[in-house]
Amino acid sequence: VLVVACLNPAVDVTLTVDRLCPGESHRARMSMQRAGGKGVNVAHVLHQLGVPVVLTGFVGGPRGAAVGAGLDPGLRAQFVDVGDETRQTVTIVDAAGAATVVNEPGPAVTVEEWARFVDTFGALLREADAVVLSGSLPRGVPSDAYAQLTRAAHAAGRTALVDAAGEALRAALDAEPDLVKPNEDEAAPFGTDGSAVDGLVAAGARNAVVSRGARGLAARVGEHRYDVTLARPVTGNPTGAGDALAAGLARGLSTTDGWPAILREATALAAAAVAVPYAGAIDLAVLDQVRPLVQVREV
Ligand SMILES: Nc1ncnc2c1ncn2[C@@H]1O[C@H](COP(=O)(O)OP(=O)(O)OP(=O)(O)O)[C@@H](O)[C@H]1O
Ligand SMILES: [Mg+2]
Repeated sequence: VLVVACLNPAVDVTLTVDRLCPGESHRARMSMQRAGGKGVNVAHVLHQLGVPVVLTGFVGGPRGAAVGAGLDPGLRAQFVDVGDETRQTVTIVDAAGAATVVNEPGPAVTVEEWARFVDTFGALLREADAVVLSGSLPRGVPSDAYAQLTRAAHAAGRTALVDAAGEALRAALDAEPDLVKPNEDEAAPFGTDGSAVDGLVAAGARNAVVSRGARGLAARVGEHRYDVTLARPVTGNPTGAGDALAAGLARGLSTTDGWPAILREATALAAAAVAVPYAGAIDLAVLDQVRPLVQVREV
């Protein structure tokens, strides 16, 4: 089973308006609510692919209950309850498809609640093949949370994939995660263009993938470097494409496939996520169409 940690899940609310005008009131054409947060998206994609997965993280209050209720049917979750309230994100999409996003910070987690999470995670590690640590950290959680969880995974003989940004990513690198997957903005402190993957490995990552939106990705695996591109980009909603990529990489890590095959399939999965208007799902028909369009080149 793949254990996916989403420490700061959210109720994602999407409102559709004709035109967004700051300072004015609007009538929403449509309103949709879904469980979100990067780790939730990763778990949803894995679940859709039929990969056994267990989702964990913190939930609190009525919105925490809404996260649990908003998960796809059959997705196994084992959350730790917190006293503070789960966050909400609001996305306003206009007729042209432009998305304006407002993210709440999420609950403040106490020292006791974090300790309870570490215990829960430790118990899940016994049945884990690999772990995915994805997304921002709620307040109160130590900034080296992903390093602590990666060390716990390694002590149990499991591999760890980290998709994070900022201080959460930097601190995680101390524990030598098996794979990190920031996007190019998030990886910029470690280098630009092709050098970011090397910078991430120099800073501690065992392997690194830097995603580059519609331009594909750069990978550094062991001593090999790959550029992966797509012959033709997919039009649609790129939010959550990185999470589908992380899901594909996590699944690949627990197979005996070689890196080129893992990178190819994960890139196809990410493209197939763009074709779905919300995060945390892929279009299986598009997946079949894009597979032959993925080019993996050793550089
Ligand atoms: N328009 C697109 N068409 C096809 N594939 C895409 C497109 N946009 C992104 N991808 C694929 O998705 C991967 C991840 O995209 P991106 O770099 O935007 O991730 P991200 O910023 O982490 O996204 P998020 O965090 O919102 O999930 C890219 O490496 C690429 O393979
Ligand atoms: Mg991302």
